[in-house]
Amino acid sequence: MNPTRRPRRLRADGVRSLVRETDLSASDLVAPVFVDATADERVPIESMPGHERVPVAEAVPRVEEVLDTGVEAVMVFGIPESKDERGTRAWAEDGVVQAAVRDIAAETDAYVVTDVCLCEYTEHGHCGLIEDEAADDPTLTVRNDETLDLLAKTAVSHAEAGADMVAPSAAMDGMVGAIRTALDDADYDEVPIMSYAAKFASAFYGPFRDAADGAPVFGDRRHYQMDPANGREAMREVALDVKEGADVLMVKPALPYLDVVSAVRREYDHPVAAYNVSGEYAMLHAAAEQGWLDLEEVAFESLLSIKRAGADLILTYFAEDLASRLD
Ligand code: PBG
Repeated sequence: MNPTRRPRRLRADGVRSLVRETDLSASDLVAPVFVDATADERVPIESMPGHERVPVAEAVPRVEEVLDTGVEAVMVFGIPESKDERGTRAWAEDGVVQAAVRDIAAETDAYVVTDVCLCEYTEHGHCGLIEDEAADDPTLTVRNDETLDLLAKTAVSHAEAGADMVAPSAAMDGMVGAIRTALDDADYDEVPIMSYAAKFASAFYGPFRDAADGAPVFGDRRHYQMDPANGREAMREVALDVKEGADVLMVKPALPYLDVVSAVRREYDHPVAAYNVSGEYAMLHAAAEQGWLDLEEVAFESLLSIKRAGADLILTYFAEDLASRLD
């Protein structure tokens, strides 16, 4: 019997691109950049081949490298010169992100997003203030409400330095609302918030914690980041951030959570972002190094899949490498 329906007809050269449903362009991508106040030269990040921590003085050249590839937006992470109990360098006027962003905003055309969190700035490596006795008693947790004010101050300090958008990642309840109010009170009502709305407690963040030196010294983040088992809860988290005024809704990580990306896409008309995290990058590199996968092909397929699932924009360490192949 001959088939009467032949989907293969539309897979021939020439027609394939006409019927392609999803495309990827450099303008969909945001490149993470690490600025390190303890470095006086660029330091390669071993678990993330091709990425480096750069000193503040190199922030502009680093961002220019990104722009040269065709990628137009960066996400700035900072490693401070010193850490303390409260993470005070996170909102310091002369802090590492503030200094770098000031230069980047003054000297480049990049669209600058900043990560708003405390884990790189606290001695204990948690994303907020901890209970006094938490180190001895791992059942004690990050103090949610006392942390909100610090995150809000951090976001305002980033906006003051010239950030175009802030991206709170601390996974505290009420974080988006607190930051929105603080930004508005400081006359930054035009600065949008990209909330890490569905942020899972993921082992795929491993390499990032080397890159940004933000691993918790004790315990883990499971009492504030989401349980990877929970898809419906992700929708409740997203609903709260929408209510609190998030402008862009991010799901993180991306590939293991494409069901969540596509559910958020269907449920909301906000822009959806997905964070293709450090572990997603590192594992493809590791396999490619063994000769087991074609790096460029799997990277492209990964990002295309994230878009197909419903993401409008993707934060990815592959941004620069893939940009030349796009557009
Ligand atoms: C800060 C933050 C993390 C990432 C982005 N912002 C680490 C974490 O939550 O543990 C991870 C990014 C990546 O793995 O690429 N809270």
